[in-house]
Amino acid sequence: MEHSLCVAMVGLPARGKSTLARRLAQGLQAEGIRAAIFNNGDIRRAVVGAESTLPEFYDPKNTHTLEIRERICRENVMHARDWLGQGGGVAIMDATNASSSRRDMIRDAFGDCPQLFIECLNEDPVLLDACIRRKVYLPEYKGYTEEEALDSFKRRIAYYETLYEPVGKEPFWMQVDATANRILAERPCELSPFYPAIREIVVSVWVGSLCLVRHGETEYNVQGRIGGDPPLTMKGREQAMRMAAHMRDRNLEWVFTSTRLRSHQTAAPLLAEHPGVNVMAMKEFDEIWAGDCENMRYSEIREKMPEVSAGRAADKYGYCYPNGESYALLRERVQRGLRRALFLARDTPLLIVGHQAVNRVLITLFLRQREEDIPYIHVPQNQYYHICLSPQRKIFERIHYTAPKEAVTPCH
Ligand code: F6P
Repeated sequence: MEHSLCVAMVGLPARGKSTLARRLAQGLQAEGIRAAIFNNGDIRRAVVGAESTLPEFYDPKNTHTLEIRERICRENVMHARDWLGQGGGVAIMDATNASSSRRDMIRDAFGDCPQLFIECLNEDPVLLDACIRRKVYLPEYKGYTEEEALDSFKRRIAYYETLYEPVGKEPFWMQVDATANRILAERPCELSPFYPAIREIVVSVWVGSLCLVRHGETEYNVQGRIGGDPPLTMKGREQAMRMAAHMRDRNLEWVFTSTRLRSHQTAAPLLAEHPGVNVMAMKEFDEIWAGDCENMRYSEIREKMPEVSAGRAADKYGYCYPNGESYALLRERVQRGLRRALFLARDTPLLIVGHQAVNRVLITLFLRQREEDIPYIHVPQNQYYHICLSPQRKIFERIHYTAPKEAVTPCH
């Protein structure tokens, strides 16, 4: 077991453990390292079935079910040990492993094979709520109403909370903000040759497949006005239809819009083509807020507020509209929106219907640009950007809704 490692996930349900476990397995495999996931839940569902969906199954005072859960864990650990004994590299134990006593059991069972405990935290209330709500669609809640499933799952979490202890006592551990690919604290397992690769995977941004679309033409675009909440023109609606037709065969799991009408109207034909897709409107993707200049024409601003035009001409990235935003400020909230969108999509394909300034910023979160160039990036309404970022695939391309793919620049 000299060249093997047990990675044991730690965290309450809906904290992103399984997504990180999957990334670790894929990322390590891409490095030529043998890695496999051992999931307690898979055994539980196969062996116990419906009874284990009931919240009481997780009551730590219920000695009968506690014994069943311990047995499942021991069985899973045995599988992992056997696999490591046959030349496996990194065994990833995917379970809550919420209590110290459970973690002690894992430590005893793995003995001379080092164990790294990775605790996943999700302290973003918006994301936590969305993740918990998604659980109601799990196959194990078939036959439950959404409300019943939600109540049951929340009660399950409450039982786990009664015995949950953060990592810290174990010899090697890492505490991760799973929503931001960030290591919050760690006691590194430096003796393991796999540790640097694991660290790298934890802090990397993964994008299964992301399409960045700009809304179609609006009445304000035609009039040279900014901001506001205008509807699409006839041409804008046609662009939205063309986009939907182009995306017809594309696998999509999530569509994010801003809270603006033009973003919703652009997404509408696409959503009609993909009825099962998850949809979420996020104010983080609303267009740059022009404050006192909202709804004005560029020509009007030049005439009535020449200091605004001059300020933007001098430093368009840093200039803040009176009572409004700058690109620099916009970047912060768009980055927050992207982080949330990527966490929710969990490596599945997503699409964002954004705006001119929003998409400029989104693009540069993947493709490094000088700050002063960001506000001048061309964001057409008849093309979109497609981005994939994983150890296996790195793609950054701009695609016309009707024409073949046009490669742009490789990702950094
Ligand atoms: O003109 C459309 C628009 O989305 C406006 O709502 C927004 O203020 C503007 O683009 C952002 O682009 P710029 O920073 O070049 O004015």
